[in-house]
Amino acid sequence: MNDQFNLAEAAAQSVLQRCTLRPRIGLILGSGLGAFADSLTDSTRIPFAEIPAFPLSTAIGHTGQMVIGMAGTVPVAAMQGRVHLYEGYSPQQVAFPMRVFGRMGIRAVILTNAAGGINLTYKQGALVLISDHINLQGNNPLAGPNNDRFGPRFPDMTHAYEKSYRELARAEARNLGMTLHEGVYAALLGPSYETPAEIQYLRTIGADLVGMSTVFEVLAARHMGIKVLAISCVTNMAAGILDQPLSHQEVLETGERVKTSFEALLRAVLPRIESDPDIAPQK
Ligand code: HPA
Repeated sequence: MNDQFNLAEAAAQSVLQRCTLRPRIGLILGSGLGAFADSLTDSTRIPFAEIPAFPLSTAIGHTGQMVIGMAGTVPVAAMQGRVHLYEGYSPQQVAFPMRVFGRMGIRAVILTNAAGGINLTYKQGALVLISDHINLQGNNPLAGPNNDRFGPRFPDMTHAYEKSYRELARAEARNLGMTLHEGVYAALLGPSYETPAEIQYLRTIGADLVGMSTVFEVLAARHMGIKVLAISCVTNMAAGILDQPLSHQEVLETGERVKTSFEALLRAVLPRIESDPDIAPQK
């Protein structure tokens, strides 16, 4: 069962062949949050369709390309768009881009997503560091025969969201005069939004945020020992909190509205993560 490994290796080599930069940090940019990749300099854009075995995103607001470029002084690989379980992809396909990051030699990632706010102290447009997750997607990309070349059969998830990265993100947010919350992200299958009763249930079990992504990517990242920082943008309050229907349009509009501060935070955080000795390129 070396299939995923060999496919990820081939995809990684095909990406690296097309650029001279060697990205140190991987980014996966969520709904309405992909604009950061447009701000990279010296960039090479590779449509997902041109990367072997790469899943193609179908969601509106997801461009579907990998952009390799410089964020200031930091070489990064940014996925502008991701794929979701609700699109009909398998858990392994959803995690595949993270596998490719791993084979590209990337040892730290920043994941962003749009999420519904369950915690009543959040407001629309709030940015929230994910401190932990609850996987309610009913599946796991690590299920099936384990590939030891990626990582162990039973990977630990106690420190899935790197504490030191959260601390430095909080410090950089403070420098920028931004409020940065912290919370637990619950991932559901979707694509329907939750019912108010489901949101009440999620609050009861300890979730602050709800969304349809990120968790499979984190599971694959941690399987490979890749360190993770994840940030949600509360694009809407979760179902039933405000007496109004949820819409994907609202999700995209809020992403657009927080773009500038979100990008400033990413730019400030990247060089701090790059200086983590644990993620130095392996010889
Ligand atoms: N629920 C699930 N996913 C989401 C939401 C939500 O309210 N907002 C953005 N993604």
